[in-house]
Amino acid sequence: MILEGNTILITGGSSGIGLALLKTFYEVGSKIIIVARDITKLNEVKVQFPEIVIFQCDLTKQTEIDGLIVFIEQYYPQLNMLFNNAAIQYNYDFLTEQNITNKVYYEVSANLTSTIKLCGLLLPTLLKNENAAIVNISSGLAISPKKSAPVYCATKAAIHNFTKAFRYQLEGTNVKVFEILPPLVETPMTEGRGKNKLTPEKLVVEFLNDFKNNKYESYIGKSKLLKFISRVSPKLADRILKNG
Ligand SMILES: NC(=O)c1ccc[n+]([C@@H]2O[C@H](COP(=O)([O-])OP(=O)(O)OC[C@H]3O[C@@H](n4cnc5c(N)ncnc54)[C@H](OP(=O)(O)O)[C@@H]3O)[C@@H](O)[C@H]2O)c1
Repeated sequence: MILEGNTILITGGSSGIGLALLKTFYEVGSKIIIVARDITKLNEVKVQFPEIVIFQCDLTKQTEIDGLIVFIEQYYPQLNMLFNNAAIQYNYDFLTEQNITNKVYYEVSANLTSTIKLCGLLLPTLLKNENAAIVNISSGLAISPKKSAPVYCATKAAIHNFTKAFRYQLEGTNVKVFEILPPLVETPMTEGRGKNKLTPEKLVVEFLNDFKNNKYESYIGKSKLLKFISRVSPKLADRILKNG
């Protein structure tokens, strides 16, 4: 993939990994559109990076996704990269949880359903443009889940599987399909938990190396080791992640 001169949509580009992706692509001269719910955060990022386009959108809401697609088709038909990065993570204890229905619906919609929808709805635009890519962000937790966030882990495992099958479907087209499998990264999502976290900036450096070389599954940092362990001893991989 060529890093310079792209038009890129980054969901969840106002924070953490999405923000680090934005900085990197901004510096090499790409047009960037970011999507998130919180307009204050979006405006703050716009002050820092004045050339970006911000679009307020709750990706769990179909009408707001529809609005985003119309906006892209009308104003940015040259869009050639989509980063499906936005996600949330809820903790559950299914033995005591009182609000399963709403939490599950929201988390699956934000993490998984919206990713699949954007892949489908933006595909006609991406198919028309050169150097086109879709990058879905899953997680090392797609390989082995942790006890505290079963729905999050399920959405990430599903993204991993979906991304592979979707890549098969697009073989022979101009759109390349990538996946990033991050380890624990220092972002607002992981505030107050875990140690020795990777910075989002280091994640992006590792990813870009894979991206430039068309390596479609980008296992980052400790996720590489996890992949190896899970092949040699799936039980050991499960044990390591269980209480993560
Ligand atoms: N941090 C880690 O350790 C880690 C590890 C593995 C994988 N990942 C994955 O990496 C990606 C980025 O995570 P992060 O750690 O950078 O998280 P983060 O700092 O919490 O950022 C999440 C972003 O998603 C946006 N977002 C959340 N729900 C949304 C919705 N319904 N509609 C639109 N935007 C929404 C948030 O903005 P608003 O709140 O304003 O909407 C924010 O910009 C996620 O897919 C995550 O699962 C992270």
